[in-house]
Amino acid sequence: MNIKPEARKIDVDFSDARIDWIPNDPELAQFWNAVSIGLPLLEGYLIRALAKAKKMLPEGSDALYADCELFCQQEANHSKTHMKYNDMVRATGFYPEMDKYTDRLKADYERFDKNYGLRHAMLYAEGFETAGPIFASYFLVQANKRLKDQDVDLITLSLWRWHLSEEFEHRSCAFNVVEALYGTYWGRLGGIIKATSHLIGFAVPLSEYMLKEDIKAGRVNAGFKGFVRKFKSYSGMFFFIGPRILRAFSPWYNPKNLKEPKGCEAVLTIASETLNLNTMAARARETV
Ligand SMILES: [Fe+2]
Ligand SMILES: [Fe+2]
Repeated sequence: MNIKPEARKIDVDFSDARIDWIPNDPELAQFWNAVSIGLPLLEGYLIRALAKAKKMLPEGSDALYADCELFCQQEANHSKTHMKYNDMVRATGFYPEMDKYTDRLKADYERFDKNYGLRHAMLYAEGFETAGPIFASYFLVQANKRLKDQDVDLITLSLWRWHLSEEFEHRSCAFNVVEALYGTYWGRLGGIIKATSHLIGFAVPLSEYMLKEDIKAGRVNAGFKGFVRKFKSYSGMFFFIGPRILRAFSPWYNPKNLKEPKGCEAVLTIASETLNLNTMAARARETV
């Protein structure tokens, strides 16, 4: 990438954003909404891990130390922006039991903090960060298709495009820290399995709950059409993400060698220029 990595503090007004931001694919939108709802807790755990780990790096790791600082700032910005989105979802009152799901996730991270040490947190962080650039590739490809769909809500779409492009940008940080501190192949594999299954174990039940409420209230038409839509979105994600996760199991895997997702640099350039999600949304079609 030709753009200098930086922490972009993004302003946003979500009052015009929509929960059903992909009207043709409500199941997919709710899956990503559920991920958004869990992200501030998840990213909080990663920030705590990297903030501790950077102090334990061997001497002469100044560049990696700076990467850790950038990582923590970027993740903090992601969390803050997702919290605003999540507040908008919560304020609709459509999903009264949503906090039950986040309370369980919060308890998980509290348990991790209490019972496991930094090594666990760093392997988890590395595992999650392995999925990050894959989600970025998936999302930027899908997002560019969605941009042709006139009904899609560009504010929410831009939230994900900016966030996941930064995930691609800082993809090597957790990997390099784990290499410097632990250098463990099997631990890395364990971290990928733990982090991805933990995230799916949170996001799928919550998105199912949200969809159930939508169907009950008549906001989403279920039935056979809904079943086909969900099957298509979930299998599309699975067949895109699954093989790429498996590829990361290779002992020669290094995130720095990953191919930059199409549109990533353009999204980050506009993010740096505007620092505003609403303006990014207005300019989203420039990046297709
Ligand atoms: Fe993030
Ligand atoms: Fe990240």
